[in-house]
Amino acid sequence: MGNCLGSSAKVDTAQSSQTTYASGISKTSRSSVPSSFTISSYIDNSSASSLPTPRSEGEILSSPNLKSFSFNELKNATRNFRPDSLLGEGGFGYVFKGWIDEHGFTAAKPGSGTVVAVKKLKPEGFQGHKEWLTEVNYLGQLHHPNLVKLIGYCLEGENRLLVYEFMPKGSLENHLFRRGPQPLPWSVRMKVAIAAARGLSFLHDAESQVIYRDFKASNILLDVDFNAKLSDFGLAKAGPTGDRTHVSTQVMGTQGYAAPEYVATGRLTAKSDVYSFGVVLLELLSGRRAVDKTKIGIEQKLVDWAKPYLGDKRKVFRIMDTKLEGQYPQKGAYTAASIALQCLSNEGKARPRMTEVLATLEQIISPKNAVRPSQAAQQPVPLWRSPARQHRSPVNLIPIASPLASHRQSPCVR
Ligand SMILES: Nc1ncnc2c1ncn2[C@@H]1O[C@H](COP(=O)(O)OP(=O)(O)OP(=O)(O)O)[C@@H](O)[C@H]1O
Ligand SMILES: [Mg+2]
Repeated sequence: MGNCLGSSAKVDTAQSSQTTYASGISKTSRSSVPSSFTISSYIDNSSASSLPTPRSEGEILSSPNLKSFSFNELKNATRNFRPDSLLGEGGFGYVFKGWIDEHGFTAAKPGSGTVVAVKKLKPEGFQGHKEWLTEVNYLGQLHHPNLVKLIGYCLEGENRLLVYEFMPKGSLENHLFRRGPQPLPWSVRMKVAIAAARGLSFLHDAESQVIYRDFKASNILLDVDFNAKLSDFGLAKAGPTGDRTHVSTQVMGTQGYAAPEYVATGRLTAKSDVYSFGVVLLELLSGRRAVDKTKIGIEQKLVDWAKPYLGDKRKVFRIMDTKLEGQYPQKGAYTAASIALQCLSNEGKARPRMTEVLATLEQIISPKNAVRPSQAAQQPVPLWRSPARQHRSPVNLIPIASPLASHRQSPCVR
């Protein structure tokens, strides 16, 4: 990871020449910061503050919700970023497990205090300072049970780090696609889909709408009870305001998850997130990756392969994960497949809003539709059985246009 062969590298087909990654957030980017966040559909523990737009780097970093760590504190907290503390690697950098003291938030002995996840930006990481700051900006203001909690950050010289609550079960991607003894049962898959839908609904229905732009299985983290939370807000963007129908922006995202009209035009709407949600819902149903280069022909692209079966009650079982061994309610699977199909409409306008998606998914798990072992178990074994689990697959999208400096025009963006 961290180079153009990185499996989940993001796309950047810039349409703005103002963006600067090396030296900080650009004027254009700054003006995209929303002025306030309020919640309309999900109150509970959610909160967001009203802040003036644009916010300077200084304002973002002085968020009262965030602790500013020194590099040394985080070095100690992760035992010098020891390889055995490594939790994972993404395009941004490495993620380490660490311990901080519950009160002073200084390093604590391993095993004592609070467990945290420390993400350390690779110095050569492409996403760079701008996305780091975007993440601090959004997660410093947005609080919701289905968004990962940012505890603090470190900005010292070239070092940029983020400190999050530790999510003991790691990412959804690990559970769905990595070989393991326990495939996720149907009920957990639906629980994850609902929690993620709640997180997206919260963002979309905020008074100042936020478009997440990076919805994918690796960005859905799971706590010990498989409660899902969205992480990685480096690409998040303020939604359109006033009479505007969309935001014109760089095309960024991960191949297989990004909405087709957004990739084609750079016009971003909340419905782009809805498309990505449809892809992840399909991954949950099928246990297949959005893009899988180890497969042949149409099976390489999950959406293209699965779409013909999603709207047909008698055919849905063909796309269902064989690891479920038929242990899912047939009606629930069809309902989930139907809503996935709507999310995957080629036209953004035809896609449902996330609140509608959420309501439909909640019906699936409501007591009156309680899980019964599926009649699907009696169905013939799908002909579409896939080869063994695959490698991490998403790769860069091909840029559609990029007025930026030549090193940023390459599809090998990081
Ligand atoms: N808060 C956390 N708690 C526990 N594990 C985490 C946490 N954040 C990240 N991880 C682990 O680190 C891995 C890498 O995360 P990261 O967000 O850097 O990359 P990614 O999502 O896989 O790729 P991308 O850079 O494209 O977003 C995750 O898949 C997860 O396993
Ligand atoms: Mg991530």
